Amino acid sequence: MTFGTVLRQAIDKLNSHEIEDAHIEARVLLGHALRLSAEEIYAGMEQNLNKESVDIFQGLIERRLTREPVAHITNHKEFYGLDFYVDRRVLIPRPETELVVELALRCAKSRTDSTVFPKNQLLVADIGTGCGNIAISVALNSSNVNVYATDISSAALEVANLNCINHKVTDRVILLQGNLLEPMLESVDLVLANLPYIKSSEINNLSSEIAYFEPRIALDGGIKGLMLIDLMLKQVKGKQSHTSDIILEIGAGQEQQVAALIESHFPTTRYEFFPDLSGIQRVVKINVKNQYL
Ligand SMILES: C[S@@+](CC[C@H](N)C(=O)[O-])C[C@H]1O[C@@H](n2cnc3c(N)ncnc32)[C@H](O)[C@@H]1O
Repeated sequence: MTFGTVLRQAIDKLNSHEIEDAHIEARVLLGHALRLSAEEIYAGMEQNLNKESVDIFQGLIERRLTREPVAHITNHKEFYGLDFYVDRRVLIPRPETELVVELALRCAKSRTDSTVFPKNQLLVADIGTGCGNIAISVALNSSNVNVYATDISSAALEVANLNCINHKVTDRVILLQGNLLEPMLESVDLVLANLPYIKSSEINNLSSEIAYFEPRIALDGGIKGLMLIDLMLKQVKGKQSHTSDIILEIGAGQEQQVAALIESHFPTTRYEFFPDLSGIQRVVKINVKNQYL
């Protein structure tokens, strides 16, 4: 059988199970099975596959039919132009989270370029780091930043450690296990977080890819979805740190409730929401500088 034939069969199978993007996913899985790039697959459509390769590819398609996400099958996810190892221990990085990195880098640049209080070296915390995607992307794109990355899940931190080694940032990204800011060793200039923000009652209504394959601890934000965001803001306040900015990802439609939480913890502070590419208010930047500096 040629690449073209096995691909067509796989696409039909994925389509018949209502899996979206069947074309793209089948090609990615064939590339993974044969260890070939997308270009090599495209160029080799008339090439023949041996039986062993056909079996491996069909095994991957069978896994996808159980709704296992492609990123878990291939153990790869691209985020901010970088390749991250992922598996069932961590949330698969989402493209909208790149906005947290973008704003963090802008913030780091404005602090180091500042004519009033320029800082050569910035300390950043990434709370709920998962596979380390935010922490590592920020560290690799800003030479004067060091990051503490925390997670309550030791399993997630094993994955983050692997990614820190792969990206050679073990000296600049320090991994700490614990509840939100509790394991932090010192106060930082910038806190970043993409915490679980889905209501507990909504998790079982999510697609099977998410509900059955991604860790519940990475999704569950409690009864209203905002339990961890609330707790983290309380911790920042309680630490009386010199933190000047907090950058938080939030869920679709949560901005009013998040605004109320911010105002309850930091009544005089300034904050601003930023939309993602779909126009959803996805990230909030809170400036707590004036109260705690
Ligand atoms: C939504 S995932 C985000 C993962 C990654 N930062 C990203 O943006 O793709 C949330 C992460 O927070 C971690 N987490 C959940 N509760 C936590 C807590 N109380 N303290 C620290 N981390 C927590 C989860 O283990 C998970 O890795």
